[in-house]
Amino acid sequence: MSLLQFDPSGSINDDYGVTQAQIDSLGDELAALRTEMVETDRKQYDSGDIPAEKQPLDARFFWLPEEQLEAYQKDREASELGRIFKVANGLHDSIDAVTVLGIGGSYMGARAMMEACCDPYHNELTRAARGSKPRMYFEGNNVDNDAADSLLRRLRSGGYGDSAAEKRSALVVISKSGGTMETAAAFRLFLPALESELGEEAKDWLGKLVVPVTGEGGKLFNLAQEIGCQEVFSVPDGVGGRFSVLSPVGLVPAAFLGLDCMKLLEGAVAMNEHFKTADYADNVVLQYVAVNHLLAQHRGKSIRVMSVWTKALESLGLWYDQLLAESNGKDGKGVTPLTTVNTRDLHSRHQQHQQGANDKVFNNVIVQSVRTDALAVGHSERNQDGMNDIAEKTLPEIMSAAIKGTNDALHADGRPTTDIILPKIDTHVLGQLFQMLMIATVIEGRLLGINPYGQPGVEQYKKNMNKNLGRA
Ligand code: PA5
Repeated sequence: MSLLQFDPSGSINDDYGVTQAQIDSLGDELAALRTEMVETDRKQYDSGDIPAEKQPLDARFFWLPEEQLEAYQKDREASELGRIFKVANGLHDSIDAVTVLGIGGSYMGARAMMEACCDPYHNELTRAARGSKPRMYFEGNNVDNDAADSLLRRLRSGGYGDSAAEKRSALVVISKSGGTMETAAAFRLFLPALESELGEEAKDWLGKLVVPVTGEGGKLFNLAQEIGCQEVFSVPDGVGGRFSVLSPVGLVPAAFLGLDCMKLLEGAVAMNEHFKTADYADNVVLQYVAVNHLLAQHRGKSIRVMSVWTKALESLGLWYDQLLAESNGKDGKGVTPLTTVNTRDLHSRHQQHQQGANDKVFNNVIVQSVRTDALAVGHSERNQDGMNDIAEKTLPEIMSAAIKGTNDALHADGRPTTDIILPKIDTHVLGQLFQMLMIATVIEGRLLGINPYGQPGVEQYKKNMNKNLGRA
């Protein structure tokens, strides 16, 4: 399996970027931070002897992929992964839709995986074309009355076909704390709706069709016991919400969609291995951190654009927005992440990116091969659009021309770029990318002198909201 690559050459420039000498000079510090992550964090986490400034130390995401694969190999049936496969595969023949309730780290990773790996029109495909995998909807990520109402009506409208399976849906409710307002309010709405849809069947089916993913002992855990849920999956201790995509938080929805969870985890393991062993000069994680950090420190690039060159990765970009913003936006530090989808946003944001404030670095995410046959523009007798001269060119060729054209134009105006190059989009590559960006975020946070784990700022709005609702 080939590993994704990182090419920083569009940022190495005396006039507007960073120099190779600057990158080299960060090598020792980054090597020390790698050792801290690989060795010290693990020791401190396992012993519980965690210095105050490192608390919370939600570092377990780093070794979780290996841990889950090992547990599966040791005892397939009893392992969490085995249980996830059993539940998801066991329900594929009995349901036609899954509603995933969750917000923030309990939502964005699953959505990113669906958009990256499933057919872009997955929910519109027939059951046969989906291979009996369910449609998937996301709610509980807002308190948007009309959106929730619309989905409730959609689910109540009797399904998509006549068979019992086509009328039935499942509810995956994900909340680490078990008490998040948006998710809890949605669960209050979607649970009775499911129950009433099931009617007489509810006594046999409700406990199977409601699949919670939560921390033990919280409100959702207790509610799941009361409902009689047959399986409750855990958000492992020591894994922060936005670092939980490769835990049951992301794997349960992924398994329902029929995505290859083993490959996701193997991709993450491959990235861990690379991060631990590759020399600084070849290490995609450390080079990504070095270049982006130096551009922020020395060139005032306070806005970090993740420029994805495929629609399939928009939600991956939004997942990274949360990861970077919530992890490193602390103590008046941290850059502002922004996702753009090209070529779409060349026609909206690009003018500003090219000639507006020069405060951005553009990290392109480029996919080397498309999944389907390349579509050529084609000859036409009606050449009023003047396109016959490029009739033989395919959409991927036009995309490549746009990528090079955009990078060259940005460089000409003194704007740095880098390329994260994915050989293709599949679960293995996605696992690599998730893990690369999570590790990079931790290393970068520590380079800034902040704790990338925890999100103290988010708590204040929750307190205010509850007060406004008349709660103590
Ligand atoms: O990264 C985080 O911890 C947050 O974004 C949480 O994922 C988000 O607030 C949802 O929390 P919970 O899973 O407890 O409902």
